[in-house]
Amino acid sequence: MSIQINYKNIDLKKPSTNLVLFVDENFNINGLKKHITSSEFSYVSDLLKNSDLKKNLLFFEVNSKKTIFLVSIKKDLKTSDIENLGAKFHGYINYDKKNDYLLNSDTINSKIENFVGHFLHGLKLKSYEFNIYKSKKSKRLISINVTGNKNKTSVQNQLRFKALEEGTFFARDLVSEPGNILHPDEYAKRLSSLKKHGLKINIYDEKKLKKLGMNALLGVGQGSIRGTYLVTMEWNGLKNNSKPLAFVGKGVCFDTGGISLKPAKFMEDMTYDMAGSAAVVGLMKNLALRKAKINAVGVVGLVENMPGGNAQRPGDIVKSYSGKTIEILNTDAEGRLVLADALTFTEKKFKPRFMVDLATLTGAIIVSLGSEYAGLFSNDDKLSKQLLDVGEKVDEKLWRMPLHKNFDKLINSKNADMQNINYVGGAGSTTAAQFLQRFILNKTPWAHLDIAGMAFSKYGGALNSGGATGYGVRLLNQLIEEHYE
Ligand code: BES
Ligand code: MN
Ligand code: ZN
Repeated sequence: MSIQINYKNIDLKKPSTNLVLFVDENFNINGLKKHITSSEFSYVSDLLKNSDLKKNLLFFEVNSKKTIFLVSIKKDLKTSDIENLGAKFHGYINYDKKNDYLLNSDTINSKIENFVGHFLHGLKLKSYEFNIYKSKKSKRLISINVTGNKNKTSVQNQLRFKALEEGTFFARDLVSEPGNILHPDEYAKRLSSLKKHGLKINIYDEKKLKKLGMNALLGVGQGSIRGTYLVTMEWNGLKNNSKPLAFVGKGVCFDTGGISLKPAKFMEDMTYDMAGSAAVVGLMKNLALRKAKINAVGVVGLVENMPGGNAQRPGDIVKSYSGKTIEILNTDAEGRLVLADALTFTEKKFKPRFMVDLATLTGAIIVSLGSEYAGLFSNDDKLSKQLLDVGEKVDEKLWRMPLHKNFDKLINSKNADMQNINYVGGAGSTTAAQFLQRFILNKTPWAHLDIAGMAFSKYGGALNSGGATGYGVRLLNQLIEEHYE
């Protein structure tokens, strides 16, 4: 199913097509008299008497060709509630089987800006499906015409929503692709194609990475027949060369665990172990599409973690790009090795205002926070507060977790500067974050988002119908828009 939205002002007094109309929290329809016929009005009035007015949405089939949807604007709606309403409406469209809708923005009584934009944004996000490998695809085309003069969304804001949807969908596409298709070689190629949007793309292949000394990253990929890459994506929306904001992502295209092999059950989930990188890519694409007035850089480490004759062994010691040595005690703790080199490199090369990394880093964060919150670890209270706030706003929530020198001690190693796992003390997500922190050499404000529980939704969530969520794209776009642009 695909959805087409038109903002043309059709001035139909009593249209014959399906209607989407807005009412107050009590489904009071007196204001709708000028938008529907008198027989429709009395029909709906009658049925409302026996309807559950606590609902957010009710629909009335006035005849086989026409349905009237009433969306109730409850008290104290937030923008995320409006997006959820749009997503809910998508569920009704699925059920209703009709394809043409007229949404009348004049019926909206609300002070919230871009009401229609948020409503349709939610609908659009919920409508995403990944079906390129299905032989039979739904050809259904839904068209929604927005009419009315009030509460419209400006053309500029329509484009912003569209950019955000495209960025989110790009991230979801990348996460949804299976490991045999989206391996690091293919991933690097797809990133190269983002040049056409005005992003400056730099691809560091194995030869270059060796020269730079990124052995933590390279070690993870050495058992794979595919390449290992670090890719940088720069967006310079400001004419000056002020310090960029930096976003760093874990791009493990498939994580078998390596020689520390994972069990078979649910190993297929590890096709989404590159979701952190996909969020960074989706964000950068969105910034370019909407020509954001900001300098930003995205950095992703692309690699496949495989066992094999040349694979990294438990007990191996590697020298990272920072110069610090790491004893690999478990080859399945590979994400932190990828990020270690990527973080040091990003800090050194771009001297960013801050670094935010995203990674499906630990199963332990799912134990702590499930699929409600991503884990937030940070050395900076201001950045943390900003992230927590925008997370609530766009409903991509975060929960701050602790960092402490006593946790840091747990990854000291007898044989090297550190080891990649801790054997005592639990707190697996925190010790992973402590590991990352050791690779920030110049005290740059930094936040690490462990999104292992957020990147993929088995049963669907408010704004997705199951599968890749694109978590992080809207969160970081909101951070930029609200605090840095
Ligand atoms: N990619 C996994 C973490 C993960 C688990 C993501 C489940 C999404 C769902 C990561 O590379 C990993 O294997 N972590 C290990 C670390 C352990 C070996 C210290 C884990 O969480 O078990
Ligand atoms: Mn792993
Ligand atoms: Zn992993």
